[in-house]
Order: sequence, then structure tokens, then C-alpha cells
Amino acid sequence: MIIAIDGPAAAGKGTLSRRIAGEYGFHHLDTGLTYRATAKALLDAGLPLDDETIAEQMARDVELAGLDRGVLSAHSIGEAASKIAVMPLVRQALVETQRAFAVRAPGTVLDGRDIGTVVCPDAPVKLYVTASAEVRARRRFDEIVGNGTPADFLEVLADIVKRDERDMGRADSPLRPAADAHLLDTSEMSIEAAFLAAKTIIDAAL
Ligand code: C5P
Repeated sequence: MIIAIDGPAAAGKGTLSRRIAGEYGFHHLDTGLTYRATAKALLDAGLPLDDETIAEQMARDVELAGLDRGVLSAHSIGEAASKIAVMPLVRQALVETQRAFAVRAPGTVLDGRDIGTVVCPDAPVKLYVTASAEVRARRRFDEIVGNGTPADFLEVLADIVKRDERDMGRADSPLRPAADAHLLDTSEMSIEAAFLAAKTIIDAAL
């Protein structure tokens, strides 16, 4: 059983995916972390972000066991990740790793941008989780301020819009809902309501 969850930055995919994985006892992979880990390895080594051959090598060295959102959460890493995510060779390398994860028993939940369209096009359940840019920016802003870091709401919003443009506008595997994905707009939904809506869809497919 594979559950594919896609959507733009800060739509709540991560929280929802972890909740679903816990509910069904499935393994969970936040595929954004594989792009972030590749970007961080390049930044740490002082290597350029625009050399596709070097970036591909770093992508091939990413190990799933070591991925940790805490270490990879920095804004600069997210920005760098979305830059190297436009490179086909980087995507190919990471998609291979993600597909190997997807077949783990008894089931998996993968979240990202291209799971339902490219990584696991045959997944029996596909969710496309979204929310308006304003709502996503508000959630991200509250999270940053909640962690004790000052932030500017309009800057956070501009950032979200820029990331959307890059993720939806790239030629290779752009962010878009798969034809057979269930759309879940969480703009006016609590996490609990989004989880229950997802559970109804998943239970119908089990
Ligand atoms: O989800 P997160 O913000 O951690 O992802 C960082 C970046 O990695 C995204 O902006 C996107 O460009 C890229 N990404 C991707 N495909 C995925 C997951 C993430 O291109 N499946």
C-alpha cells in the first residue's frame, strides 16, 4: 500500500503524512528532506549549486536513515533545495531512492511535490493537499515566531509565492495534482478535520 501526498510548501503535508503513517502503521518519507540533504551537503562542502554533475553525485550519496528535519529546516537550505530540484539528474537519483523506500512493507506514506505524478504514479491513494498562499504564509509565520524568531509576514508570504512559482514552473516534474488525486484544500480546516477527510479516502481504498 502506497499513499502519495503532494502539495505546495507549508500546506500541512508533513503533519498530515505523519498522522496517517501513525494511524496505519506505515513507514513515512518526507521526500523534501532528500532534496534538502543534497543541498546541505553542497553548501557544507562549499560546492556550487549550479553544477548538475556534482549535485547528482551528492544526491546519490543521500542516506534515508540520516535524514532529520531539525538539521535541515533552515530557510537557506529550503531555498537551495528548490534550486537544485530543477536538475533532471538530481531528481533521477533521488527518485530512485524514494521508489526503493516506497515498496517497504506493510505500507508507506510519501509526501512531496511529484509523488503521485512521477515517483509512484500507480499509488492506490493520492492526495493533493493545498491551502491559499495567505493561509500557508500565516501558518509558517506563526511557526517561526512560535520558535522565538522574529519574522515579517509579508516577507514570509513573498517567499511562499516565489517557492510556488519555482516548484510549479520547472520543466521536470512540476508540482501539479495527478489526474486521479483527491484534492484537499485545508485553508479552512483544522489538522483534525484534514486527517479525518484523508482517512475517509484511504479507508475506501483499503
Ligand atoms: O517540502 P520541502 O519544503 O522540504 O522541500 C524543499 C524543496 O525540495 C521544494 O521547494 C521543492 O523544490 C523540492 N522538492 C521537490 N520534489 C519533492 C519534494 C521536494 O522538488 N518530491
